[in-house]
Amino acid sequence: MILFQGITKNYPPNITALDNVSFEVKEKEFVSVVGRSGAGKTTLLKLFLAEEKPSSGKVFFKEEDIHEIKTGHLPWFRRKIGAVFQDYKLLSTKTVYENIAYVMEVIGVSDEEIKQDVSHVLEIVGLTDKAGNFPIQLSGGEKQRTAIARALIHRPQVIIADEPTGNLDPYHTRDIIHLLEKINEFGTTVILATHDKEIINNLNRRVITLEDGKLVRDELKGRFIL
Ligand SMILES: Nc1ncnc2c1ncn2[C@@H]1O[C@H](COP(=O)(O)OP(=O)(O)OP(=O)(O)O)[C@@H](O)[C@H]1O
Ligand SMILES: [Mg+2]
Repeated sequence: MILFQGITKNYPPNITALDNVSFEVKEKEFVSVVGRSGAGKTTLLKLFLAEEKPSSGKVFFKEEDIHEIKTGHLPWFRRKIGAVFQDYKLLSTKTVYENIAYVMEVIGVSDEEIKQDVSHVLEIVGLTDKAGNFPIQLSGGEKQRTAIARALIHRPQVIIADEPTGNLDPYHTRDIIHLLEKINEFGTTVILATHDKEIINNLNRRVITLEDGKLVRDELKGRFIL
């Protein structure tokens, strides 16, 4: 489904963020990407979102070279991928409901459909009763669940999550990881970048380990080893 083929990413003047990285992700997999700060995790996810171009190598999504996609088609491509970040990226002046509805409004979906779909994703993440809250009125875990609901709204085939629990306590961390597992069980591919050892060792799923931009391990039932 996703294929990284000999990906190298250099940043001027002399940083090699990724060094000849190759791997494949199959549909419905749950893959964690681990590595120390600066190992290249975020760079890898940005290359998959076509937010950065590789210095060499190719990234394919379902046989399509994503760095050959014309700029005009990129928003359409990105809607197939739901992205979740450490800092939630919620709009502070909009409620939970509006934060999610907004991404549908901008592509001209009807009010009726928006209402239906937003209610559905709020149910999945368990936030139906907080729909009217503003971000400031939410816990960290609830903010992240809002961001996940927003990521789900276009029914993406893949969810990528870059340190989604980086600002959360252990309780909310488990909550968010369970939610990602549930979404994965529904059939969505999940790629999770993290440096949380507990998460990785409890997941017992595939782990790709990066060290200084190099892929040094790729294990199906991975443990956190750095
Ligand atoms: N836009 C950029 N310009 C120059 N160097 C960059 C840029 N983005 C990342 N880097 C460098 O590339 C390397 C990999 O960074 P990246 O953000 O991918 O690491 P990471 O594994 O996500 O780290 P963290 O765990 O701290 O989030 C680092 O050395 C970083 O300083
Ligand atoms: Mg990062």
